[in-house]
Amino acid sequence: MKNLLVTGGANGIGAEIARRADQAGYRVGVLDLNADEVETTANGLSNGVALIGDVTDVDRVAELISEFGNVDVLVNNAGILRTDALIDHTPEDFRLVMDVNLNAVFIVGQAAARTMLDNGGVIINMASINAIHPSPNTGAYVAAKAGVMALTQQMSVEWGEYGIRVNAIAPGFIDAGMSAPFFANDAVRTRRTGAVPLGRLGTAQDIAKVVLFLASDDAAYISGETITVDGGVINSVLKQLPRE
Ligand SMILES: NC(=O)c1ccc[n+]([C@@H]2O[C@H](COP(=O)([O-])OP(=O)(O)OC[C@H]3O[C@@H](n4cnc5c(N)ncnc54)[C@H](O)[C@@H]3O)[C@@H](O)[C@H]2O)c1
Repeated sequence: MKNLLVTGGANGIGAEIARRADQAGYRVGVLDLNADEVETTANGLSNGVALIGDVTDVDRVAELISEFGNVDVLVNNAGILRTDALIDHTPEDFRLVMDVNLNAVFIVGQAAARTMLDNGGVIINMASINAIHPSPNTGAYVAAKAGVMALTQQMSVEWGEYGIRVNAIAPGFIDAGMSAPFFANDAVRTRRTGAVPLGRLGTAQDIAKVVLFLASDDAAYISGETITVDGGVINSVLKQLPRE
């Protein structure tokens, strides 16, 4: 049985990744901050392991990975968003967003990769369409997610020789997790849905399916890529602007 570790796995997209990986036969480590939430998600799996900790805490991450065992697949999914205007963003919030969204991808990625050196493995980092397209009031998130794309390429170049494949996913408008509160507003929901060429918001399942594909041998020759999963929305700017 292969070991898959998902950070931020207690809620939202991460919890869906944990469930799908469990159904696919992985032993699943659910790493997240809140003990009750981690245990609820992990206990709902056939082979779930609750790993309570902060992805920015280097020592705790090392402890949790040695407790979990060698990682075959790591999904660096934990993330936070602070929706202030950049002019008001505090340095503390900027640092926190960079720490959780970007620096932790290095911290957990390196700790997991060290367990992959002999047998190879797969790392999947969660970016965002914000890595490619900034949006107002998104603070440090855009810079952090762009960093995730670059770090994915760097990891793929340095760790390919160990048989480690590293890719990222850039989700679009996902009706789950941190975006659920925005889509609870009907006007936002209607306008954003209307901007998606495929005519619907994305789901956590849409993202989890791509995670499982990238983790599988069907993706054996893909490394260093960021796969956008957004129903086509990042290509739809001109569709929003009438020609006449
Ligand atoms: N929902 C979307 O529309 C969307 C779009 C693009 C990208 N993403 C990305 O997908 C990922 C999952 O987001 P989500 O929408 O499921 O959000 P979410 O808030 O539901 O889940 C994020 C999880 O990360 C955990 N987390 C936060 N800080 C942590 C820390 N320091 N240590 C450990 N765990 C921590 C949270 O407790 C939470 O369970 C994030 O990286 C996010 O940036 C989401």
